Amino acid sequence: MPADRPVIVTVPGKINLALGVGARRADGYHDLVTLFQAVSLYDRVTAEAAPAGEIGLVMAGVDVAALGPPEDNLAVRAARLLASRRAPGAGVLLTVLKGIPVAGGMGGGSADAAGALLACERLWHLAPDRAGLLGLAAELGSDVPFLTLGGTAVGRGRGEDLSPVPTTGEWSWVLVTSAEGLSTPLVFARFDELTPNPPAPGLPAGLLDALAGGDPYALGPLLRNDLAAAALDLRPDLAATLQAGRDRGAVAGIVSGSGPTCAFLAADAADAGRLAEELRRDGIGRSVHVVSGPARIGFRHEGRG
Ligand code: C5P
Repeated sequence: MPADRPVIVTVPGKINLALGVGARRADGYHDLVTLFQAVSLYDRVTAEAAPAGEIGLVMAGVDVAALGPPEDNLAVRAARLLASRRAPGAGVLLTVLKGIPVAGGMGGGSADAAGALLACERLWHLAPDRAGLLGLAAELGSDVPFLTLGGTAVGRGRGEDLSPVPTTGEWSWVLVTSAEGLSTPLVFARFDELTPNPPAPGLPAGLLDALAGGDPYALGPLLRNDLAAAALDLRPDLAATLQAGRDRGAVAGIVSGSGPTCAFLAADAADAGRLAEELRRDGIGRSVHVVSGPARIGFRHEGRG
């Protein structure tokens, strides 16, 4: 029998166009309501055949030195979880090429878990089971279910309860990364300190209509992030980054998720290119990326079996 061909899945990172955060729950998570959008900065997860029971990982690309040990890696945990539930004894060698900043508030680790689930499901010839995969994804992390779908979606609960939002058209964003990451649990803990009695979370009125309408000048004023104050408290330098984007004509600027990546909405792709050029010229952030959303997950097989 020919060897199984490697499966390659490209998984986008996400930004939160709105992130409404409520009170800490008994399980330690926070109830939230968020509007996720996947954007065109990708991690590439390759899954190739390995001896039975062996689940291995090779990491490459940006920030890999900042990553923890492979056994804690979310992609490895995803492959192990899928194997234990649906393919006992299966093996895989995962290679993750990182394009999404590590600890950047863009769901990079979650994207790798989503990619590993999707790639292993194919490599191991499992019947596609979207609902089952979403359930496993939720066990791995709050953002993993969204990143198995991509596109645009409203997330509720701790972020795992998803309602996809059909969209037309494309949004242009400029992302500014930061040399140092931020820990998501720390940002949520600071949120608790700064916001002792948060109201029940919700989306800004008119947000979904503005999204459907396609006008960045209507969407811009409705972008919100309840974690922004906590992220800025931990990282006061981000205020200058946000101001830099606004001063250079961004339609709006927000901290992405728990930060520290900042996302700027641009009027269109050409305007995003101009804004990025000016931010780079002036040395703002560690790196500046022009991206578009909503982005999709990509699949391909490599070589011949
Ligand atoms: O779900 P995930 O493991 O990605 O979450 C990482 C951390 O972020 C959690 O341990 C928790 O501290 C915080 N979190 C939260 N409420 C959420 C999602 C994440 O408090 N809805």
